[in-house]
Amino acid sequence: MKVIRKISELRSELTIHRKAGSRVGLVPTMGYFHEGHLSLMDVARKDSDIVVVSLFVNPTQFGPNEDLVKYPRDFERDERLAKERGADIIFYPDSREMYPDPFLTYVITEKLSGVLCGESRPIHFRGVTTIVAKLFNIIQPDVAVFGRKDAQQAIIIKKMVADLNFPVEIIVAPIIREADGLAMSSRNTYLSSEERKQAPIIYRALQKATEMVQRGELNAGCVERSIRQQIETAPLARIEYIEIVNEKNLEPVKTIDPGTFVAVAVWFGKTRLIDNVVLIDLDR
Ligand code: PAJ
Repeated sequence: MKVIRKISELRSELTIHRKAGSRVGLVPTMGYFHEGHLSLMDVARKDSDIVVVSLFVNPTQFGPNEDLVKYPRDFERDERLAKERGADIIFYPDSREMYPDPFLTYVITEKLSGVLCGESRPIHFRGVTTIVAKLFNIIQPDVAVFGRKDAQQAIIIKKMVADLNFPVEIIVAPIIREADGLAMSSRNTYLSSEERKQAPIIYRALQKATEMVQRGELNAGCVERSIRQQIETAPLARIEYIEIVNEKNLEPVKTIDPGTFVAVAVWFGKTRLIDNVVLIDLDR
């Protein structure tokens, strides 16, 4: 596995592979790998000859009072895990390499980036779409893999790809969870032991909601109230939003159908956790 820090070097390396007819897969990350990230590498591996993992804690997607500085980092560990998981290249640029000074050009997916997480994090998705567009231009992957953990992010990236005609296939891979149901996240390391104990209430509430829907409750308001009541039983939980939305436009729905999902953001102390589930499984 090669570690490449320069855009020019990555481009020359990939030109060789592309000339040889290789299919290139990309897994964009901010590092501090857990099984969620590694599962995306497995998905990319199955679908491509060369797997590129990008590792860049992208400053433009963090707000001024967010955790850019304290975001967890451990490159040596990440390098070892990615290698074990069969990645071919880690692209590990520094900020100067990715953002020339001054940097003046951004990609914005309107509407979708202003709802749900975008309400409390107004510049977040602009940072995400900009860095992902840059990565697509630098790497020109045939396929890129994202996690359903960040459902809004995946939906926005798919829309950006469609709107701007990026020649890349987007795969969205399932959420990987801890044994107690908590969705894996690099930010889980911020939780105190008491917060960590209470955090699985989020997924328990979402599972209960799924059961309600399976029993026939299709009223979004009722299901949302049930989720709220459940999560509020955890003394340390502070709900930011619980929304049942349409998969296409992220607009709230009144009636649950196969094109809707529930997304939540819940604070435990200084840590903001997000999760989501599709309430009606299309495969059933
Ligand atoms: P990061 O939070 O490091 O996540 C990288 C990828 O891993 C994203 O596609 C995310 O959805 C996926 N992921 C995280 N936790 C997961 C889990 N428990 N199960 C499945 N997939 C999971 O998301 C970002 O970085 C950045 O915004 C990025 C896209 C790299 C742009 O900077």
